[in-house]
Amino acid sequence: MNDVGKRVLVAGATGYVGRHIIARLHDEGFIVRAVVRDKARASAPGAYGAPALTELVDEWVIAPDGAADLRPDIMAGVDHVVSALGVTRQKADPWAIDFLLNLRYLELAEQMDVASFLYVGVMNAATGSSAVSRAKHAFIEALSRSRVAAQIVNPSGYFSDLTEIYDLARRGVAFGLGDGSVRLSPIHGADLADFCATRLGSGAGSWDVGGPEALTYRDIVRIAFEAAGKKPRYTRVPAPLASAAVWTADRISPRAGSLTRFFLDGMQTDSVGEPHGTHTLADYYAALAH
Ligand SMILES: NC(=O)c1ccc[n+]([C@@H]2O[C@H](COP(=O)([O-])OP(=O)(O)OC[C@H]3O[C@@H](n4cnc5c(N)ncnc54)[C@H](OP(=O)(O)O)[C@@H]3O)[C@@H](O)[C@H]2O)c1
Repeated sequence: MNDVGKRVLVAGATGYVGRHIIARLHDEGFIVRAVVRDKARASAPGAYGAPALTELVDEWVIAPDGAADLRPDIMAGVDHVVSALGVTRQKADPWAIDFLLNLRYLELAEQMDVASFLYVGVMNAATGSSAVSRAKHAFIEALSRSRVAAQIVNPSGYFSDLTEIYDLARRGVAFGLGDGSVRLSPIHGADLADFCATRLGSGAGSWDVGGPEALTYRDIVRIAFEAAGKKPRYTRVPAPLASAAVWTADRISPRAGSLTRFFLDGMQTDSVGEPHGTHTLADYYAALAH
């Protein structure tokens, strides 16, 4: 199918994944309409090597106040919606963003008869105990029941998030829960963007996706130490300490509790998806080392 000239609205455009998706859609010849909170920030390069959006976006929607700024005309002429919108490090309630704000985009897409809505969620959302997982799962349920063709992409961990393990390795120590045997298939933003672009317009579906390699947490730590040129040192945190961490974080704030649960769920549950892409974590860490 020729997608040249089709219009895609991207929510979560300024994030790590959103920026890579926009770069890919621009290369494919789509007309890209990006919703951002701050155009100046969107025009600067993103974190972890994600691209600046200035040359990649055709139409801008500036929405600093979330749902209050979203009117039906933002969907005018739109063929597909892609959302990589979600709370990661932002100080916001995941229910308000991952669920309600995504739901607002979906309602507008339905009103304006948009053909498909591709949502970048997370693997294991249905079983996760954090507020983020619950909000994402609720949105996936709503999207699945929509009359817009629902495309649900559930990725494993991103290279961007695993940068922290490299940073720890550079300091000479990495922590992990238990023996570190949990497996994931980390994925680079550009590879995830490629996966999303190949699914766009292909009809409804739900996919668990990861990068080209399935690795244990211990493998990832080893690769990080090799790139940092340090002798591997893995400090094993006993599993019972996880409940103590959640108990403490809950008493600090709901946000701290949710982040701790999200992080600990990830350390205790395999998240290996359909392998996709070419970028390896070893190359990514090697680039950080230089
Ligand atoms: N990191 C991982 O390993 C991982 C793994 C699987 C799935 N995911 C999920 O994949 C999605 C994309 O992740 P990412 O790493 O690209 O996240 P990111 O870099 O933090 O980007 C998130 C996007 O959502 C927007 N957003 C967040 N809070 C907002 C708020 N209060 N109001 C309006 N916009 C808001 C951000 O806008 P601003 O730039 O203006 O803040 C940004 O555009 C997220 O839903 C994440 O949970 C992440």
